[in-house]
Amino acid sequence: MKPIIATQKASAPARKIPVFVIALTFALAFSFIPLSFSQNPSPTPPGDQAVHQRIDSLLKAMNLDEKIGQLSQLFDFRTEKAIDDAVTKGRVGSLLFVTDPSEINRLQHLAVDQTRLHIPLIFGFDVIHGFRTIFPVPIAMAASWDPAAVTQAQTIAAKEARSVGIDWAFAPMLDIARDPRWGRIVEGSGEDPYLGSAMAAAQVHGFQGDFIGSPDHILACMKHFAGYGAAIGGRDYDEAYLPETLLYNVYLGPFHAAVKAGVGSAMSAYLDLNDVPATGNRWLLQDVLRDQWKFAGFVVSDANSVKSLAKHGFAKDVEEAGLRAFNAGLNMEMAIGFTAFSRSLPAAAQRGEISEKQIDDAVRPILEMKIRLGLFDHPYVDVARSRQILSTPEHRTAALHTAERTAVLLRNEGNLLPLNKSAYKKIAVVGPLADSQLDTLGSWVFQEDLQETVTVLAGLRYKLGSQVELGYAPGVQIRRTFPSFFDEIIHLKAPPVWTPEQSKSEMSKAVALARSSDLTILVLGEAQNMSGEGASRESLDLPGREEQLLEAVAAPETPVVLVLLNGRPLNIKWAAQHVPAILEAWYPGTQGGNAVANLLFGDAIPGGKLPITWPRDVGQLPIYYAHNTTQSPENQGKRYWEEESTPLYPFGYGLSYSTFRFSNLKLGRTEIKPGETIHASVDVENTGAATADEVAQIYIHQQSGSTSRPVRELKGFERITLASHEKKTVHFSLGNDELTYWSTARKDWVEEPATFDIWAGGNSNAELHSTFVIAK
Ligand code: BGC
Repeated sequence: MKPIIATQKASAPARKIPVFVIALTFALAFSFIPLSFSQNPSPTPPGDQAVHQRIDSLLKAMNLDEKIGQLSQLFDFRTEKAIDDAVTKGRVGSLLFVTDPSEINRLQHLAVDQTRLHIPLIFGFDVIHGFRTIFPVPIAMAASWDPAAVTQAQTIAAKEARSVGIDWAFAPMLDIARDPRWGRIVEGSGEDPYLGSAMAAAQVHGFQGDFIGSPDHILACMKHFAGYGAAIGGRDYDEAYLPETLLYNVYLGPFHAAVKAGVGSAMSAYLDLNDVPATGNRWLLQDVLRDQWKFAGFVVSDANSVKSLAKHGFAKDVEEAGLRAFNAGLNMEMAIGFTAFSRSLPAAAQRGEISEKQIDDAVRPILEMKIRLGLFDHPYVDVARSRQILSTPEHRTAALHTAERTAVLLRNEGNLLPLNKSAYKKIAVVGPLADSQLDTLGSWVFQEDLQETVTVLAGLRYKLGSQVELGYAPGVQIRRTFPSFFDEIIHLKAPPVWTPEQSKSEMSKAVALARSSDLTILVLGEAQNMSGEGASRESLDLPGREEQLLEAVAAPETPVVLVLLNGRPLNIKWAAQHVPAILEAWYPGTQGGNAVANLLFGDAIPGGKLPITWPRDVGQLPIYYAHNTTQSPENQGKRYWEEESTPLYPFGYGLSYSTFRFSNLKLGRTEIKPGETIHASVDVENTGAATADEVAQIYIHQQSGSTSRPVRELKGFERITLASHEKKTVHFSLGNDELTYWSTARKDWVEEPATFDIWAGGNSNAELHSTFVIAK
């Protein structure tokens, strides 16, 4: 049977768009009045001068309340009547969580037709890994090591979102995460600033296109600025302490890359960074972001994080919180119900504590993005067109191929994979995630068509048809001890909890099914609400009784393949010794089951690599490859007396159905001066029988300097496809960007005279080595 790429059913019928009489009447008087119904901005960007003139004339006409309105963003869960009122009075400049195109048009009409200056709303939403078509979660996309595929995924996400009237994605999430207890590790690109920066730029380009306002694209929002991924103990929202070496050399890197890629907005983080809450942190929002990096977009707070400044023990009350966030450089406040800005800024302006110019400066980039996005000229969406776009079959095909590219093969003893269809008469599919559509998608999905999602079981059915007998048993149930607040938002309907007798019998059924089959495919991991915001863990063990199920099923007599659905590395120590094949599929999205089936049966070949070090156990955390060499480095792997201190799988690791040989690491020169570029090349040969992908990776180590430097740092990578026995030369350039770092000793960015090691290979343990020197 051919894999089915289902398409989306048509959504609810469009509301009739009311006649646009009022705006047309005023059109002659105000050049910023919209003239078109269709939200598809111009294929070329407006000139800067025209944009700034338009902003100037708007600011001249706006009163204080209207300006403060532009700085306010409210959640609209369609339960708040007050929203319509706020929009009509110009007291809100942006709404989030509205996703129905007719409702967006209705609200936009309120803003455009009924406010004095006809300023459109900007609609924001968490478009994290797809809108209707769900792509693999961001950590998985990073595992593709394929920025072009990531750009394509976010381009499609942008197109779908824009078609319903969402102009702004609260993505990409650029928080470096080195502690997988933190649930939001699933939303980022892992532990490494170089890979994270490549993924940051790729996502910004995907969302925004060639310029802000490119047709069918949306504004990106880099988040959460900054340090959120370093939440102490991996506990979501807890404070972070980051010394400047980690901030500059690691945690801020991807944000700077996004600014360089032209990101138009940023979101401040929830947490205290070095005792100063990010939302009230002028050093972050002004000194780094605007003064050092020349960021010209606007900053929105995370949800309610301005009001929270009072809870942090930072501001004395909500009024002071609003003022301090504003003075720190925040432009827009995201809030439920009301904003602190609306309570504090009017009075502060009247008291002369903040100037009109400060307020204008805060409003300016918001108006600028609205203009550049084309919202003034084309504020409404074409509902019929959106239905068409949301059901585009090519989007589902792209999701399938992305999922195939993101999977990481962790183990394949005796080349059990790829499976041969004709070798098995009966296959057991076991595990609570094997046939769960929601758990195939991961967190941050609200507008997906759940019925269309292909589970692993369904994918295997499509692949095998009636050729093989396929049995299914969930074996165990898994659930959170404390519910997630998202359960309510998505109206999660959890099945009734099994009685102890049922639990026993379901486990026995699963084991019996496995025993009576020629092969077992175990699908384990975490349910989608176990990973994401508010989903931190104190353990990395397989949840519930999954480990018991795994150990009971994985008998040596029947071959077992373990497929993992999850958003963080888990404790799979036992499996890594006893289960011959392990495929990390992450949360693979709408087409996840088809992708997994293709990968297991060799119609696609795994080529993903880990964007994060995989620990053996939770006690090793935090663990990351780019640590420093310190005392007794020869014992680096034996820091604990009862367990190795090396990871289970290193950063950059992933197997293939083929094998590769790296050779001939060549440097253009062995000595350069600071500021010069060194060129490196390496030959990669596919030594196996199948056409497959390998990711060539380059790591460096500065042997001495004003500070110690990490043992290895990734400084280049390229994913390539090689036919059997094909050899390619991959080229890398190491210039100022790669060789400079922030020295805490010298309090500056430095490129220091030193000898550097350089390695090339297929993971962070690469062995092919050479050296070069930066001379004085
Ligand atoms: C999250 C943000 C998200 C916002 C809006 C917050 O709880 O931290 O990442 O963009 O909600 O949904």
